[in-house]
Parts: sequence; C-alpha cells; structure tokens
Amino acid sequence: MKVDTLNINQLVDEVSNEVTKWRRYLHQHPELSFQETKTAQFVYETLESFGGIELSKPTSTSVLGKIKGELPGKTIAIRADMDALPIEEENESEYASEIPGVMHACGHDGHTAMLLGTAKVLAELKDEIKGEIRLIFQHGEELFPGGAEELVSKGVMDGVDAVIGAHLWAPLEIGKIGIVYGPMMASPDTFYITVKGKGGHAALPHDTIDSIAIGAQVVTNLQHIVSRNTDPLDNLVVSVSKFTAGTTHNVIPGTVEMIGTVRTFDADLRQSVPATMERIVKGITEAHGAEYEFTYDFGYRPVINDKEITAVLEETVKEVYGEETVDRMKPNMGGEDFSAYQQKAAGTFIYIGAGNKEKEAVYPHHHPRFAIDEDALEKGVRIFSHAAFKLLSQ
Ligand code: NI
Repeated sequence: MKVDTLNINQLVDEVSNEVTKWRRYLHQHPELSFQETKTAQFVYETLESFGGIELSKPTSTSVLGKIKGELPGKTIAIRADMDALPIEEENESEYASEIPGVMHACGHDGHTAMLLGTAKVLAELKDEIKGEIRLIFQHGEELFPGGAEELVSKGVMDGVDAVIGAHLWAPLEIGKIGIVYGPMMASPDTFYITVKGKGGHAALPHDTIDSIAIGAQVVTNLQHIVSRNTDPLDNLVVSVSKFTAGTTHNVIPGTVEMIGTVRTFDADLRQSVPATMERIVKGITEAHGAEYEFTYDFGYRPVINDKEITAVLEETVKEVYGEETVDRMKPNMGGEDFSAYQQKAAGTFIYIGAGNKEKEAVYPHHHPRFAIDEDALEKGVRIFSHAAFKLLSQ
C-alpha cells in the first residue's frame, strides 16, 4: 500500500485549527472519570459529522469508531483517554474550565482532540485503507479500575493486530517525541497497613504498646525489600506515603495507619512483594506485642511497549519530523491503563513533547496551572495518521 504522504500531510494541515478548537471546547467542559457523558456525546457527534465511520458506544461514557477500508487487511487501534481531574483550575485563559473543581490537568482533552483530528484525516483517505482502523475514545483512565479494562471486556480489541496511543507530556519540550522500547510505565499498586498497639500516657510508655515506635520500624524495614531483597538490576519502588497517628504531646496513640504504593515493571517481582511486605509487618509488630492489618490492592499492569511497533513509530517520527525529534526516554514509575489493551494485542505508547517555557507550559501534570503547548496537537495527528498506514502495510 502506497499512500501519498503529501496527501496525509495536507489533510493534517487542514484539520489542525479544528483540533485546537475541539481541544479548547473540551478543556472548557471537563468531566470526571466515568462521568464523561457530554464528552462522549461531543465525540460521537463530531465523528458522525465526518461521515464514513461506523460508530458505537461500548459504554455510556465511551465511543468506538471503525474506519473500514474497501480492501481486507489488518486491524489497528488508536486510543485516546477523555477524563479530567478533581482540580480547581488556576489558569486564566479564555478557554479555562467552566466547571468548578474539575479540570483537564493531564492533557486528556488534547488526546481526545488529536484522535478526532486523526479520525477526520483517515476517514477522508478511506478508499486507500487496506483493513480497519479502530478509534477508541476511552473513559476513566485516572480512576482505578480504569475504563480500558471495561472496554476490553466489551470487545473493542477483538481482532485487533496492533494498538497505539500517546500522552502529551509537559516535562518533554515541544518538538520532541518520547520513545521507549520495552518497559515504559510501572504497575501502580496500593497498600494499607494498620499497626494496632495499646494507647496510654506518654509519660508511662511501659504501660503502652507504642504504635508510633513500632510503625516507624515497619517503615524502615519495608525499605529493605528494595535495598536487600530485590535484585539491584530489577526496578522496584516501595513508598509509605501516608502515616497517620496521634493527637497530642502526652498521649501515645493505640494505632498507626499507613498508605503507600508499590511500583515495578516485572510481573514475578510484583507478585512476590505482598508476601514479603506482610512477613515484615507481621514480624515487627509481633516482636513488640502489637497486631496488624495488611491490605494490598493490585492496580494497572505495567505498560510494556512492543519492539516492532515501537520501531514503526520511531521510523514514522523520523520520517515526518526528522531524526533529532526522537528522544529515547527512560521508563518511569507512573501508571497507565493503556496496558490493558496490550494484553490483547501488541502495542506501543509514546510521549508527545508539550512543554514550552515561553507559553508557560511548565507545570507538572495534575497541577492547577498545568498547560500544554497546543502546537503539540498537530504532531499527534500527523504521527497517528502516518503510523496507521505504516502499521497496516506491515
Ligand atoms: Ni494522563
């Protein structure tokens, strides 16, 4: 299959202003995870206006589009997430959030707009498509158990040969595209520990079982999992991120409550962590006559990029924007439910640089002043559009 690349580029140029317009509309009207009713409706109607796309709603807050070519071939999927966050926006742009306490502070408004733009370009090139391109507009990425798993269970990935997705990335400067081979993002698990001692007067510690002193040892000893129990060449994070206890200076509290996160890329290592943690918690608390409760919740699976699809995306970026555009990034310990699609088909997730000091796009994701350089949007559309044809021709 040989599609005229000039043709794709021209169509991307034509849709580029609209993509920015859609993004701004979505930014003004953010909706929280699993509540994206109006967003899904907007996406559905916009896709409908292009013509030539088979549309359905796998759930009330998600949209699936299918562009079926005239000739048979492979099926590839492109995914965008659509949800916003419970954050009060502090930016004062003319398209700032109109919904109090809700903000697109992670760039998912941009992801949705980019996929709409890609859909428009690909729908116009329908006659040249061999196979099928699926457009997955996903709800609820920010909130576990995530929308991806639900969409997979609804069959959106059935028959899909390859899946791609992207995140606009403010820590990466505009003009760069972040490519990672293999492990890219970790499995974000959560744990809850309660140390149950015996409260009493802080001047009479011998009459208490001091939950704070014991809890502190639990925290310290949990650090041994990474430093002493894990192969230094494997990646693991064990962080106690909340430690709650006590009321005042002269009372030893009876209980300490801890919450934390465990992150890794390795499935076997991940499975082994809860038992190791519990062994430590049990040992320390028992040694000091205290009791404990321990709960471990598995989160999303790690995002592991497919070698061949990553190579196709890297090649696409180099062809479209030049060699120097590619930034071979290190993996990070964040989480993404894009991994649910990768259980069904080989897939790759990339970062699209969206940071720019001159445009004040310098704040981290999930910050009330988070912003993107909107010039990143057309890069996403262009890369997706070219990559779609490239993947179908593999
Ligand atoms: Ni995000």
